[in-house]
Amino acid sequence: MSKKKMKIGILTAGGDCPGLNAAIRGVGKTALLKYGMKIYGFSSGYLGLINKEYRELDEKSLSGILTLGGTILGTSREKPFKHQDYEEFVLSKPERICKNYKKIGLNGLVCIGGNGTMKTAGKLQDMGLNVIGIPKTIDNDVWGTDRTFGFDSAVNIATEAIDRMHTTANSHKRIMVVEVMGHHTGWLALYSGVAGGGDVILLPEIDWDAEVLKEYLTRRSDAGKPYSIVVVAEGIKIASAAGSKKKRESAGAAIAKMIQSMTGFETRETILGYIQRGGAPSPADRVIATRLGAHAAELAAAGDFGKMVAFEGYNLTEVPLHDVAGKTKMVPPDHPLIDEARSVDTCFGDKLPGTD
Ligand code: F6P
Repeated sequence: MSKKKMKIGILTAGGDCPGLNAAIRGVGKTALLKYGMKIYGFSSGYLGLINKEYRELDEKSLSGILTLGGTILGTSREKPFKHQDYEEFVLSKPERICKNYKKIGLNGLVCIGGNGTMKTAGKLQDMGLNVIGIPKTIDNDVWGTDRTFGFDSAVNIATEAIDRMHTTANSHKRIMVVEVMGHHTGWLALYSGVAGGGDVILLPEIDWDAEVLKEYLTRRSDAGKPYSIVVVAEGIKIASAAGSKKKRESAGAAIAKMIQSMTGFETRETILGYIQRGGAPSPADRVIATRLGAHAAELAAAGDFGKMVAFEGYNLTEVPLHDVAGKTKMVPPDHPLIDEARSVDTCFGDKLPGTD
């Protein structure tokens, strides 16, 4: 198939993040301008393929979106292989995707998303579609790549918020607990916690002990420190009362309540939430997204499908989609940044800094 006649579909799926439009632009402009391909953008993730909702992307639609937050295509958490609807339709959702892919005459499909999106992409490849994945997430938890766009922007946003906590904590002599996103991993808490000067950083990957927290925060107060900042990943383990039916409160609220009742220090929590996914991408994320997008278009032009584009250090590479499916990149407990943070007296809740 000459590259000139190739028709490539693009979709963005899963949680949105800054940099998605930069990635769409990277794929689209490379495919369009360098290889003369036709580009079709599908709405709302895999839903657009299921329901044949798409539009052609030309140079005009790809202009002015490098710095635009969110995704011009829209997104959803639709999982075609999970959310079946046989009773409504003769064909399953995956079968409808394959039928529409062929009916539109696509020669390839670029799926931009996180772990779940890559897993679906691998299954569609197995059904005979030509698929390429581009990793995206603010959580930095996509296995197989050292970098994704979204993460740097979220670290910047969370760090800016933590910076602001220092002044209000100092004014009131309070402990401020800041909960950051990250799903089941602690990357966002680790990086924004270190960057924002968090005294305590709690990660899902490191078990924490309330007594250690109490001892560490009390020692800080006894040493004349006027306040403390505690950065908490949303996915940390919180022992909820056995058998309790009520919906668990947020990690930040639970930790703040526990600290105040254990130490008697006035404590408040802030849940950063979706602000970490909003707004314009950082310059680093614009570069990462452009590089990944352009590389995905190169793979499509070469007919090299069934892969996720990835970073090995700062170098572009690609990994089989099947190597990524179903895996999550957790923070290794021996990550050097954890030791370096402990060296500057940061407590991870497992032991007092300076002790083995
Ligand atoms: O994966 C990105 C993320 O923001 C996670 O950090 C967070 O736990 C989750 O999405 C929130 O999901 P939703 O957007 O469906 O509420």
